[in-house]
Amino acid sequence: MTAVEVCAVTDQLPDPAMPAPAVSAELQQRIEQLSPGQQAALSEMLQRTAERYPDFDSVALIHQYLKADPDYTDFSVYENLGTLKGPKVVKDFPDAQMFALPRDFQPLDASLEDLLALRSSRYNYGPEGLTLQTLSTFLHAAYGVKRSIQAYNIKEFPVRNAPSAGGLQPVDLYLVINQVEGLPKGLYYYNPVEHAVVLLDEGNMRSALMRCCIFTEFVLYAPVVCIMTCNMDRVRWKYGDRSYRFVHVDTGVLTQNLYLVGTALNLNVCALAAYYDDQIHELLGVDGREEFVSLLFSLGPKPFGGALTEA
Ligand SMILES: Cc1cc2nc3c(=O)[nH]c(=O)nc-3n(C[C@H](O)[C@H](O)[C@H](O)COP(=O)(O)O)c2cc1C
Repeated sequence: MTAVEVCAVTDQLPDPAMPAPAVSAELQQRIEQLSPGQQAALSEMLQRTAERYPDFDSVALIHQYLKADPDYTDFSVYENLGTLKGPKVVKDFPDAQMFALPRDFQPLDASLEDLLALRSSRYNYGPEGLTLQTLSTFLHAAYGVKRSIQAYNIKEFPVRNAPSAGGLQPVDLYLVINQVEGLPKGLYYYNPVEHAVVLLDEGNMRSALMRCCIFTEFVLYAPVVCIMTCNMDRVRWKYGDRSYRFVHVDTGVLTQNLYLVGTALNLNVCALAAYYDDQIHELLGVDGREEFVSLLFSLGPKPFGGALTEA
């Protein structure tokens, strides 16, 4: 490290000889409004982070707190896995109408080499919408159930076409369906066990969804927009706070499946992070805390159709 670099680093560190600045009245007031449990959690976060990064910012605060801690010795969950019952990994909507998806899937016969080369983010679409068979193939191949196994003391625990931490499948897929043959327009939930879509709210959601997005008009025109949400209750019991990181990794893994399967089906597809979280939560009717949005993904036919192409 050069002298200049040393200065640059030490400039950012607090001078130990200086008295600590007084806690601002605003911070003091906010801390006093917290419960004892919240104060303890905040204090631990601050302590752990300040020890490691004295000049921390908000990202360092969260990141440091969610690192695996070698001093943590409570492995009771792992010791009790033989008796603990795993969570349900599919949500129930008992009063909602369910539309079974066809199981005569389209072949996905492109080579992995071709798919990786052709995959790209595109959001212009042809006018014809999607067939039910294409939507069905897309959902099943990317995130459907491939078999059930005995796991977490559940006899028929589904195993899906995308990996997830502990196989706990915290990511759910909601679908804003604008143009799919045989399905009314509306907001749906993908039930992978039934391989069906569940109608949560019927109607044209195009402009409602666009209002949830940031400078992203293409959601108006996309025949289908998937909304990925993370369900913390499926993973927190096993991985604690650190599961907050895993659910985002699971979203990323699933996203690549969606990209590759969409590419194999000759669709134009695009991931989309430019959304207002709480407006999406309101659209879905989820609390935004135990279940929250992690990414959007749009899909539709290429403008000029044809064989597997780059168009
Ligand atoms: C997590 C994630 C979020 C993204 N969000 C957006 C987005 O909000 N808007 C957009 O137009 N593209 C978005 N993209 C697409 C990227 O811009 C695109 O993947 C990148 O430019 C590389 O291009 P390629 O996918 O064609 O290889 C996103 C991609 C990922 C993986």
